[in-house]
Amino acid sequence: MPLWLKTVTKKIQSIRGTHDILPGSVELWQRVERTVHELFALYGYAEIRTPIFEDTELFARSIGAETDIVRKEMYTLTDTKGKQFSLRPEGTASVVRSYIEHSLYHDKAAKKLYYIGPMFRRERPQKGRYRQFHQIGAEVLGSDHPAVEAEVVEMLERFFSRLNLGGLRLLINSVGCVKCRPAYLKRLREDLAKKQAGLCPECRHRSQSNALRVFDCKVDSCQLVIDQLPSIVDHICKDCRQHFEKFEHYLDFLPHSKTMTCRREPRLVRGLDYYVRTAFEIVSDALGPTQNALVGGGRYDGLSEMVGGPPAKGFGFALGMERLILLLSGQEDMRSRYKAPAPDLFLAYVEELYLEKSLKLAQELRGKGVFAYVDFENRSLKAQTRLAHRLQARYLCVVGEDEIEKGKFFLKRMEDGEQSLLSREDIATHVVL
Ligand code: HAM
Repeated sequence: MPLWLKTVTKKIQSIRGTHDILPGSVELWQRVERTVHELFALYGYAEIRTPIFEDTELFARSIGAETDIVRKEMYTLTDTKGKQFSLRPEGTASVVRSYIEHSLYHDKAAKKLYYIGPMFRRERPQKGRYRQFHQIGAEVLGSDHPAVEAEVVEMLERFFSRLNLGGLRLLINSVGCVKCRPAYLKRLREDLAKKQAGLCPECRHRSQSNALRVFDCKVDSCQLVIDQLPSIVDHICKDCRQHFEKFEHYLDFLPHSKTMTCRREPRLVRGLDYYVRTAFEIVSDALGPTQNALVGGGRYDGLSEMVGGPPAKGFGFALGMERLILLLSGQEDMRSRYKAPAPDLFLAYVEELYLEKSLKLAQELRGKGVFAYVDFENRSLKAQTRLAHRLQARYLCVVGEDEIEKGKFFLKRMEDGEQSLLSREDIATHVVL
């Protein structure tokens, strides 16, 4: 084979870290999405859809120029005029940008927004970690009340309980505010300066540029150092402490299902710079030791100002859909309940002459809510019956001269072969019932 032909015919595959969601799996995704739309509306959230690429500056300013996401993981492109865009690595920055751009802060009430969509990070792909992944996120803008935070947790709990997902752990912490964090950071940097020998090269860099990020390190040798570092929650100011205590109070106060346990996690700092005060994660041990975070979120008062907007308080979360689907597909009932739908009725035509009649009948039946299937390949009746079995159609109906002339059709129930003779008008009710 000539070389050029070999190059032309090379199989093109999906890009590393991306994946297709195929029929048979997509039904579970749709079930999750339906649950989001139905449930979040009960809490007053409206959906927002923002572009998947934004000005790179938006992410640098909000997530933080020294975070791993901005330093190493963004897909950035430069257009012909030299302007830099990035595929969104998360949704909060875009929602806040949109909130400012469309002056959504003019409403008196807090703005509750949610989104579902793809995000992009150039991470090392592994189970539960992808380069294109999907998040379900919700943001409340315009309130700094700790009850908002507890209500968000309650909504998540109800969401998981609707999906029958248990075994989750809620980890909460306070990461202080602009007033109290500088003193803590100074202390942390001093401590880290003394412990450089025990740190990986990346953490040595972080200990100068963005010391809080050391807590995110997964390298074994760094854990010994991390264990000895002071916890931020022990160094927060009075206002932050009161806020955190109130959050815990409202958490206790709201009714809880048994899907989640809750505990304080003093080492939780999160990997994005915009957080102040409350930070939280929901983790599942079933996701494995390293990628165990299903949900991440927290408060981000000040983010609006950082991206050029008016002062606005904010709180929200994002949930990794691939991780949720991994957990749900581990459950037998979910796997069997959500699969590609099978036809209600397979219309098998005797010869090509009756293809048109079958199409007409299918059209009528679909108008009455029946999933009617017609094959176009002019196969023999036997081959069409085999196909009906393969597609797991519930009923088979033969369309031929006799049936069309008399207006009476034999419907065969595929599971037991039971036959019924029905007039054209009665087919839909018989099949749908
Ligand atoms: P995050 O912790 O970076 O937070 O991401 C939230 C969730 O997205 C993670 O817990 C995980 O389930 C999922 N996730 C993140 N990266 C990947 C990946 N590479 N592959 C698969 N899943 C992934 C945020 O994105 C913040 N915007 C959350 C937030 C909203 N905070 C306030 N509001």
